[in-house]
This record gives sequence, C-alpha cells and structure tokens, in this order.
Amino acid sequence: MQLKEALRLEHIVKEFPGVKALEDVSFCLQYGEVHAICGENGAGKSTLMKVVCGVYKADGGKMILGGEEVCFSNPKEAYEKGVAIIFQETSLFEEMTVLENMFLGHEKQKKIAGCVKVLDYSAMRKQAEDILKKLNIKIDLNENIKNLGMAQKQMVEIAKALTYDAKVLILDEPSASLTQREVNALFEVIRNLKKDGLGLVYISHRLEEIFEICDKVTVIRDGSYISTRRVKYTTKDELVADMVGRRMENYYPKCETQIGEEILSVEHLYDNGFLTDISFQVNRGEILGFAGLAGAGRTELMETVCGFSDKVSGRIILEGEPIAISDYKDAKAQGIVYVSEDRGKLGLVTAMSIRNNISMPQLESVARNWIISSKKEKKLAGRYINNLGIKTPDSDFIVNNLSGGNQQKVSLSKALALNPKILILDEPTRGVDVNAKAEIYKIISDLTKTGLTILMVSSELPELLGMCDRIYVMKEGELAGCFSREEATQEKILKIAMNLD
Ligand SMILES: Nc1ncnc2c1ncn2[C@@H]1O[C@H](COP(=O)(O)OP(=O)(O)OP(=O)(O)O)[C@@H](O)[C@H]1O
Ligand SMILES: [Mg+2]
Repeated sequence: MQLKEALRLEHIVKEFPGVKALEDVSFCLQYGEVHAICGENGAGKSTLMKVVCGVYKADGGKMILGGEEVCFSNPKEAYEKGVAIIFQETSLFEEMTVLENMFLGHEKQKKIAGCVKVLDYSAMRKQAEDILKKLNIKIDLNENIKNLGMAQKQMVEIAKALTYDAKVLILDEPSASLTQREVNALFEVIRNLKKDGLGLVYISHRLEEIFEICDKVTVIRDGSYISTRRVKYTTKDELVADMVGRRMENYYPKCETQIGEEILSVEHLYDNGFLTDISFQVNRGEILGFAGLAGAGRTELMETVCGFSDKVSGRIILEGEPIAISDYKDAKAQGIVYVSEDRGKLGLVTAMSIRNNISMPQLESVARNWIISSKKEKKLAGRYINNLGIKTPDSDFIVNNLSGGNQQKVSLSKALALNPKILILDEPTRGVDVNAKAEIYKIISDLTKTGLTILMVSSELPELLGMCDRIYVMKEGELAGCFSREEATQEKILKIAMNLD
C-alpha cells in the first residue's frame, strides 16, 4: 500500500510562563503507520499532542492535516476533523454509560412527527455495536464507566474516537496502567486500526512496546526535535542515546549492599476475605520485590501493612517488637512510608506547589515557632529537585503543571524526605523515563547502603529482576513463591503468577 501523509507538524513552538515546552518541533505521520514519540519526562510529548488537538494554541509553527493547513481551538473541533486523542489521564464521565460517553457532544438525532428532534438511541446503539465488534471487544454499552477497569475505559475511549470516524488517533501512554495481557489486547486493536489505514501516534516509556508495535519513532529532547528513525533499523541503545543525549551504561544500577538483620516480619496476615495467611520477612538494606498479575493482591497487601485497610488477624513485627498499625499515621510514626501507585488519589495534592507537597507530611520540620518557613521548605524541596532531576523552573511550580513522570518524582521525594526505615513503593516508575528510572534506582540503591529497606511492587518484571534481592510472587491473595536474585527469571515468575504449572 502506498503510504500517504496524514499529519505534518512544522516548527511548532509552545511556551508556558517560565517554561519553553516546545522549541521548533517537526513531525510527520503517514496513514497506515504507528509512529512513536519518545523522550524523557518533560521533553514535551504530551504538550505537542495537546497542541495538535487544540488543547493548547501553538506560539509558532503550522500543522497540515491531509494536505490542508489547520488549527483547532479545542479537541472537539479536532475530533470532527478526524483527529482523536486519548490523554494520559482518561477523560470519560464516570457516572454515565459507555454508550452515552461514546456519543457525548455529537449524539445522533432523528425527527419524529416530521419536526421534533429526539435522540436516536437505536442508531447510536447500532453504530456502537458495530465499532465494538470491529475492535473485537466485549463491553456492555449500558454499563457505567465507573464500573470499568482501566483497560476497558481505554477501549471505550478508542471506540469513542471511532464514532467520529477518526483518521488520526493519538495514544498518550495508553499502557502505563495496563497489565501485560491488557497491553496485548490493546496492540491487537492498534494493529487492526493500522490495517484500516489510520495513522496512529503512540507515546510510551516502555521501549519494548515501541519495538513491538511501532513503525517509526521520533525523539524529542528538552522540547526540541532530535531524530526520526525506522524502528526496524534501530536499536534500543541508539534510541536511548537520542533521548538522553548520551549513551547509558547501566539501566539497573543496583549496588552491592551488606544486608543486615531482620527488620520487618509479617506473620499470618489476613484481611477481610482476600489476603490469605501472608507471612514474609525482610532484612535491613534489602530490596524485596512483589510480582504478580493485576488483582493478585499486591497493593492490598501493602495497604494492609500500612494501615490503609484493616487487617483481621496476623502480626506485624518491626525490629523485634510487635506493632499496632490502625491507620497510616501509625505506620509513618514507625518509619513505614508508602508511595501509592495512584499518585492522584493517595500521593499528591496536585493543585499545590512542589515544595508544599514535599513538606506536607512533616510540617514540623520546616516550621519555626509554629510558622512554616518557606526558606526551609525550599531547601528541603530543592534537595530532591536536584537529586531526582525534577524538571521544573523552581519549587513553587504547581504539581499539576508538571509532566506525568515529574509528578511521580515529586511523589517519591515526599516519601524519601520522611527518612523512612521501610519504604514501600507501589509501581514506583510508572510513566517515568529510562534515565529518570535509572536515577531513581540509583538513589534507592544508595539508600539501602545506609540501612533503608524497600518493599517494591511492580508489574515490570525487568525492574524487579534488575533491582531486587528477593522476589515474592503473589497469586489470588496469597504468596505463591519466592526467588532469590540469582534464581529469579521472568519465566519462573510468570509460571507461578499465571498458574501455568
Ligand atoms: N499547563 C502547563 N503550565 C506550565 N507548564 C507546563 C504545562 N503543561 C506542561 N508544562 C511543562 O512543559 C514541559 C513539557 O511537559 P509535557 O507534559 O509535554 O512532557 P512529556 O514529554 O509529556 O513528559 P512525561 O513523559 O513525563 O509525560 C514540562 O516542563 C512541563 O512542566
Ligand atoms: Mg506526558
């Protein structure tokens, strides 16, 4: 098939107060291809796509769609011209049904009695059913969005795009909160859409995905265009070098650590119905991983240890003493700190500044005579902005305006600033770029040398294999296996997690 140009961006510039987010970025997408956009956190990927869809107005450059220069003033206009975007955070209405969401803002109507217009539910239902069938997905059109999982919500977003007859579909980190199996289903859908001749833009930090599903990859760095390559003729190292501006030596900088005596022991833990007889020990300086499929109970376990949900029976023993944890405050007081996988819900107050967020759990340490010292707050925040390489003009920047991965770093900073004994990380590097991941791992790894102990839940097996001293595998609310660093392999872990034995 002869490929044809779908979308061309020329010399796009976009500035926010104090931040030059895009400086001269050009990009060209063909029909019938999947084109990745890669770059570090804060490189400008989401901003570029928001400019395309009319969320932001560019300060310079032009956009050509199907040979015609266009400029959208909002996403609806873009949708109507066949350009659909699925944002990093989903944008469906939770209290409405799948069908209502799919046609929201462009409902089909029919005339009755020759003049009165009413909603044409049967036509909408028919089209929705056809689209779902084509995508090969089964979702009840009458279900409320709030009852769907992340993967299904994403499918609804894609289905919604198709109700507009999208020719260009932009997916901004669609896989970040999906399990491997869900990612595979998403890829099936993407392949079908590509076959149908759509042009797709795919943004992801998971490089394996880019090599699996994309035809071309464009790298932007610090808001500037760096390169466009054919995935087939590119290596991971070349791609990373373009993104980071240098070759990266070590993706998992785990240091040799002297592992100390037992620090935490969880004995026969049950919650109300799901977690069953969980027992494990962890030693000072150790990084203990928890692998498992989504829904295996890893987050529930961590939340129970931290007092977010109630344990029904069992004991938690810290440094030889049984401790009572009835809420998270108790856990924190004992030096057990949790970084949630859901930074929006449990991690950050996104309408506040970076420094307010980092100091929030420990206001006493930045106060003088009961008054918060902004100087102390800035000093505290500054240390983490530096150490974790948070891309921001200063510590007064509002978290909401940071890029996704940089928000994750603020969430980590907030926890690290508490100097915990035990740090529980749930999907710590979701949406974080390769370089920042390595930075975060390095920091974690260095801290274990000073005696910090880490429990790490992750759906990225290479991350667990690269960083953990031991890995537990969870399945249906139970610990189903444990491997030492030397023994652990992806196959062994998956076999247990997926019950393949
Ligand atoms: N509304 C806004 N106001 C101010 N600055 C913003 C706003 N939106 C984005 N920025 C800044 O623009 C830069 C690019 O952000 P963008 O979200 O495009 O990055 P990204 O490449 O998508 O990163 P990530 O991989 O972390 O999602 C960042 O420095 C960010 O802080
Ligand atoms: Mg982004």
